[in-house]
Amino acid sequence: MWSGRFCEPLNSAFEEWQRSFPIDWRLLPQEVAASKAHARAIAAAGILTEAELITMHGGLDAVLANNPLHAETGGFTPTWAKATNAEDIHHFVELELTKQIGDLALKLHTGRSRNEQIATDMRLFIRDAIDNTIVGLRHWHESLTTLAAEAGDNVIPSYTHLQRAEPVLVAHWLLAYASMIERDCSRLADARRRGNYCPLGSGAVAGATLALDRTIAARELQFTAPTPNSMDATSDRDFMLEFTQCLATLGIHISRFAEELTLYSTAEFGFLDLPEAFSTGSSAMPQKKNPDLTELIRGKSGRLLGNASAVATLIKGLPLAYNKDLQEGQEPVFDSADTIAGILGVLPAFTRSLKFNFERMRTAATTGYLNAMAAATYLSNKGVPFRKAHEIVGNAVRLGIETERELDAITLPELQQLSPAFGEDFFAAITLEATLDCHDVIGGTARHRVAEALRAARSRIQSE
Ligand code: ARG
Repeated sequence: MWSGRFCEPLNSAFEEWQRSFPIDWRLLPQEVAASKAHARAIAAAGILTEAELITMHGGLDAVLANNPLHAETGGFTPTWAKATNAEDIHHFVELELTKQIGDLALKLHTGRSRNEQIATDMRLFIRDAIDNTIVGLRHWHESLTTLAAEAGDNVIPSYTHLQRAEPVLVAHWLLAYASMIERDCSRLADARRRGNYCPLGSGAVAGATLALDRTIAARELQFTAPTPNSMDATSDRDFMLEFTQCLATLGIHISRFAEELTLYSTAEFGFLDLPEAFSTGSSAMPQKKNPDLTELIRGKSGRLLGNASAVATLIKGLPLAYNKDLQEGQEPVFDSADTIAGILGVLPAFTRSLKFNFERMRTAATTGYLNAMAAATYLSNKGVPFRKAHEIVGNAVRLGIETERELDAITLPELQQLSPAFGEDFFAAITLEATLDCHDVIGGTARHRVAEALRAARSRIQSE
């Protein structure tokens, strides 16, 4: 590709080591698409005749057809990618195209540089990866909202400081994750919009030396427009940074979900029975059923975070414009895309198959004075200042602990000794239903608010 200026051959170990083809072979579809778009642009500039353009396009299609990327083989390197001396995907396509159409292939590189090619290929790759991730997230969202609908009026304790706080609807708890997913989708869609610009025509650094109409390639590849600055375009990897960062944030959300389910499946909580189809036994302890899926997901979120910091570290401190360091950015991007595809390949079905132990949840949510807040609210509705109400209910809770009774088992005369504001209607104000329904605000766990939130979540995800 660049042998003209050199007298000495490359050190063979170095030559082998600096290749990116063992990694970037999977950009073949993007490289072919970008090459076809570039061919159209140079044809419009008079470098190729209409007949040559047709030959070139046919040759590029054949390169793609002869070297299939099997979706089902995932990250495995196909045989064609092992048996070659190509330095990188750009070199590979040039070699293969020469086999197809002979010397005409050499004209393809007119007016372009590998620096703009790799930037274009990576943008195309990430665009697809974002689309696939959003599809997967929609499935997971759907699983969660279905589970929420099925949970009806069942309750679970909410926790603060991992201490039981107040009862909430199981649906309310599940919809918390639906909210996170919606933010993740919007972040990814936003990153997609910002990254959807075409570097082709930027040349090696200063812009193409040919009077190219850059809008031709941009349009052909469904980019919004050509990038506005050639130095930025050839060295910008913000779209890779944003992509890996979006996935790192998503990984954090998924990891929190995984952590909660791991905890809730323990005998100590007993809120759910792990689906056997997604759990494993222990080779040593016959009684065990282990939460491998949620544990692995929690572990994999570490990779997503690591990849985001790898890309950030790579870019930080690079002078403009292209530097070979940037080649190292491909692996973390591919790994994040593969990792999230793997997770979202199992998480929706796993979520859908969760079986909750609503009895245990209800017992946990109705013992331990989780209605104390509702009790204080009752007093404050009677005109007792909230600080005072808090103290009075605190005294009632202490009495309950000492005599091993919940608040609803303390008699009215006993309560009235603590405050004359207590009346017969107190007991109706601290039932489970009342405890839920007193949170009657947008985003609160009152039953009709949660029903509304569920409807809204379902319609938002459809319109995103
Ligand atoms: N394989 C290179 C990469 O991934 C392609 C660009 C090479 N450009 C260069 N000037 N050596 O970054």
